[in-house]
Amino acid sequence: MKVATSRSADSPLSIVTLPSRPLGAGDVRVRVRAIGVNPVDWKMRGGGPLRFAHRFIGPGGPLVVGVDFAGEVVEVGPRAEGLSVGDRVVGGTDFSRRQLGSYADEVVVRPDQCAKLPDSVSFERAACLPVAAVTPWITLTERRRVGPGSKVLILGAAGGVGLSGISLAKMLGATPVGVCSTRNVELVTKHGAIAVDYTKGDALDEAKKHGPYDVILNVVGSDVYPLKRCLAMLAPKGFVDLAVVLPRDVLSILFSPRVYSVLGRVTRARLEPLVDALVKGHLDPIIEEKYSLDDAEKAHQRSQTGKVVGKLLLIP
Ligand SMILES: NC(=O)c1ccc[n+]([C@@H]2O[C@H](COP(=O)([O-])OP(=O)(O)OC[C@H]3O[C@@H](n4cnc5c(N)ncnc54)[C@H](OP(=O)(O)O)[C@@H]3O)[C@@H](O)[C@H]2O)c1
Repeated sequence: MKVATSRSADSPLSIVTLPSRPLGAGDVRVRVRAIGVNPVDWKMRGGGPLRFAHRFIGPGGPLVVGVDFAGEVVEVGPRAEGLSVGDRVVGGTDFSRRQLGSYADEVVVRPDQCAKLPDSVSFERAACLPVAAVTPWITLTERRRVGPGSKVLILGAAGGVGLSGISLAKMLGATPVGVCSTRNVELVTKHGAIAVDYTKGDALDEAKKHGPYDVILNVVGSDVYPLKRCLAMLAPKGFVDLAVVLPRDVLSILFSPRVYSVLGRVTRARLEPLVDALVKGHLDPIIEEKYSLDDAEKAHQRSQTGKVVGKLLLIP
């Protein structure tokens, strides 16, 4: 199998061939057709806590980064239920289950990490979903489900998580407000949000005018959008969900009932409603650019600019 690996925190990704992974009784093998790029993929390459965790609880051997994939099931273990050879699926790998990442031409995962795809959904559109749509789905439905009358503020509205979050908030009947830069105001508005341009003044002051908020999803960081100011913009039962957790946030997450951190763990139960939303047109992912797997390093360089609009994909 062909994979993109990270040998060390400061070396570029390299493309190597590894022996195919053995299939456990409860596993399926998926021939990967499209891979979604997420910032966590390059964060894991760095020397920080993710790489450390991977070393201790991961699969061992070379670090293959990546989570999101879409493709076809090509082999099914004897105790893997719910999937058959030939099924089209979208899913996410999980290193805590000792699985290699998704920057590969095949992955071995369990059926509870995949959702089936109808023929009408392309692998490329499906590969935009896992981390980027599961994360706001958790925020908007699993803490307290938002609905008609709810107001949702998304700080970092034009990236993968932000645009999915706007579309899902809209689908659930809530009113989304999205903070972005000037070049993305039109896009964020088209997705159905009230856009707040952070280059034109104090974004939180401006966003406050459209509140108070039932949910504030911060995918930028509390260094840019301070927690204290966000808490002051909440409706009585509102909460802040942090997709980026800084050391300064830890005490608030532990002790404030109004501050959460979200972990976009990909499961079938979370993916199924998202595939349904894609089929029905509630989610309409924007693909900024597609790269071949061989160019995974270039995709990471682009992602690291923090200026991606929508999603980047890799095609094995
Ligand atoms: N905890 C989790 O499970 C989880 C899951 C998913 C993502 N995340 C984290 O969340 C972050 C975003 O992920 P992503 O996939 O959405 O990234 P992305 O697609 O790379 O998002 C980039 C977007 O951020 C926007 N942005 C940059 N600075 C901003 C600012 N000051 N205010 C508002 N928007 C700003 C940019 O829009 P403009 O050009 O308009 O500024 C750009 O479109 C990453 O750090 C990622 O690691 C965490």
